[in-house]
Amino acid sequence: MSILYNPQENTFHLKAKGTSYVLKVLKNGYLAHLYWGKGVRNSNFEYYLNKPSFFIGSNAQNDNIPPDILSHEYPSYGTGDFRHPAYQIQLENGSTITDLKYRTHRIFSGKPKLEGYPATYIEQDDEAETLEIELFDSLIDLTVILSYTVFNNFSAITRSVRLINEGNQDLKILKALSVSVDFPSCNYDLLHLHGAWSRERHMERQSLNHGSQIVESRRGASSHQHNPFIALLDKDAGENSGEVYGFNLVYSGSFIAQVEVDHYDTTRVSMGINPFDFSWKLEPGSSFQTPEVVMVYSDSGLGEMSREYHRLYRTRLCRGKYRDSIRPVLINNWEATYFDFDAEKLLEIAREGAKLGLELFVLDDGWFGKRDSDNCSLGDWFVNKRKLPAGLSDLGEKVNKLGLKFGLWFEPEMVSPDSDLYRAHPDWCIHVPNRHRTEARNQLVLDYSRKEVCDAIIEMVSNILSTAPISYVKWDMNRNMTEIGSAALPPDRQRETAHRYMLGLYRVLEEITSRFPDVLFEGCSAGGGRFDPGILYYMPQIWTSDDTDAVERLKIQHGTSIVYPPITIGAHVSAVPNHQVHRITPMETRGHAAMCGNFGYELDLTKLDYMDKGIVKNQVEYYKEIRHIIQFGDMYRLISPFEGNETAWLYVTEDKTEAYVAFFRVLAQPNGPHTKLLRLNGLDPDKNYQIIGTDLIMGGDVLMSAGLKIPELTGDFKSVTWRLKAV
Ligand code: DGJ
Repeated sequence: MSILYNPQENTFHLKAKGTSYVLKVLKNGYLAHLYWGKGVRNSNFEYYLNKPSFFIGSNAQNDNIPPDILSHEYPSYGTGDFRHPAYQIQLENGSTITDLKYRTHRIFSGKPKLEGYPATYIEQDDEAETLEIELFDSLIDLTVILSYTVFNNFSAITRSVRLINEGNQDLKILKALSVSVDFPSCNYDLLHLHGAWSRERHMERQSLNHGSQIVESRRGASSHQHNPFIALLDKDAGENSGEVYGFNLVYSGSFIAQVEVDHYDTTRVSMGINPFDFSWKLEPGSSFQTPEVVMVYSDSGLGEMSREYHRLYRTRLCRGKYRDSIRPVLINNWEATYFDFDAEKLLEIAREGAKLGLELFVLDDGWFGKRDSDNCSLGDWFVNKRKLPAGLSDLGEKVNKLGLKFGLWFEPEMVSPDSDLYRAHPDWCIHVPNRHRTEARNQLVLDYSRKEVCDAIIEMVSNILSTAPISYVKWDMNRNMTEIGSAALPPDRQRETAHRYMLGLYRVLEEITSRFPDVLFEGCSAGGGRFDPGILYYMPQIWTSDDTDAVERLKIQHGTSIVYPPITIGAHVSAVPNHQVHRITPMETRGHAAMCGNFGYELDLTKLDYMDKGIVKNQVEYYKEIRHIIQFGDMYRLISPFEGNETAWLYVTEDKTEAYVAFFRVLAQPNGPHTKLLRLNGLDPDKNYQIIGTDLIMGGDVLMSAGLKIPELTGDFKSVTWRLKAV
């Protein structure tokens, strides 16, 4: 059994693979958090309740535990706990005080669907167990249901919250986070992933300080700047050892992840929809659901936490036909042509791609309306007959005849002021009446909080997808929200716009992906501006970054892999000098870096010389041989690019019979060590592995204890890879 309830002590013990999480209903009805960490047997957890002999602060309500030191499971505001609350509700009388007490609970097998939201799921009821605890504020008849699901095969616990107004007054939700967890000490480091366009998800690890540390987005998207992920790590935890507590929000909009260390050196972690510029009117009889947070515990370091997220997301977050299918090697025309192409130019690239073994040709931006630059036509989803006179289906069929599948770019959440759609519906964008509409990349954001806007887009996109042989869609989104407001919402609901937008987006994605189950969808947001689990639920791969430079990609892909599986990480070889940083790196290194994700090319293949074409052909052939290891295996990060000049990653199949290792060295080192060894990880110590391409057979134990010899590498930006096979 995964969830144990002890009626004598009124405790709940949640057991996922390798981890325990314990709660208790106190005598006064408050819900306290007692433990989260390594999986343990049932015990007297009450021992951990803090009952001080001396305390200055608000009095305890008949349980001897003052509210400011109690570990609250879903803390409220205004009754003596002065740390950040998990939620806040405004009543009709203006008060923002609520008081939630335990009412009842349910334990059942399975995991209910989170209506309207992306979330992890199960395929059989016996994969997981769910606990729902109902809290109640009897003064205003507000019910709050805290949901917990524990998975038998993952060290993951998911949490979400539902607020139901059972009273007869309007309530206004000012804040409703998905999770709050109190830790008994502050002896941790905080890890988060920050960045910018072209520099996404760099790792930053810092010691916790007293006060609040916040990672957030207020942009209406999960953002390039911060990922909806944080982890607390033991001070001495590293890649392969130590305790790590991961939190990842399954949401693609503005979020907050907050860590507060108080004056008693305890730590409160909370995460959810960003309360900044948010409120939600909760009418009598209505309810509000928060998105889900996936919490993963590891006692074997960050590497094991990542692999748990990878396995869970690969198999129980991503969906559809492609979840378990090898992903095609693609050629995308964006950096090859930008907006400057016609059908013949595209077919030239596709023809070359076919000769080199590529499997999917993707036509990027510029095929619709009258679009020749980024200043028009978003929203006009009909083919540009000047560029493609015979239409998309003709192009798609010709590409198919070459032996490649055909894919197409869209940016369906946007509208250009210079478009037929905008001229017909100027109020269909997010805006505030009489205010300037701030453009970014010359475009405005469509108001997906409106049903009719979403329905129109579903039809436009469906129309294109059903009239041409399209097997792949790149779903782009290139700007953040400004002047957030909706023409369709009343004044007291304006602050719901950004969240209603996300719910609208999820409905659109659900509808389109179910109408076209055979299409492979790839998310994109000016590169990796929305690389989050919410998007992965609908689209099982995401364009990681517009930065395709092999050196920059080491940090971007390493950081992304902290939470997201390699199969989801879109990675392409592009031309040199690189278009983002103007660096010149060898074709081999660009290939090796991109092969560590979901592989493809993004350059004009027709312009490559004979030598480079040969290299591309070999790379494609090689990737086809190893992609099952990278896409479905386990990843072990061996050397971090954030710590020096070198990076190394290893991928191993679940049965540990095949492995692939990639090593990168950024700058050449004069007169370096004669023997440099790379210690492996994740192999079977009892198996012997042949190093493919040599006669060498080595024990898995030796390779993990002593390592592989790194050959002498001359010059900057060099890499080397190995393939191992158990014999
Ligand atoms: C941003 C994406 O990240 C690029 O890959 C490309 O699709 C452009 N948008 C097209 O406008």
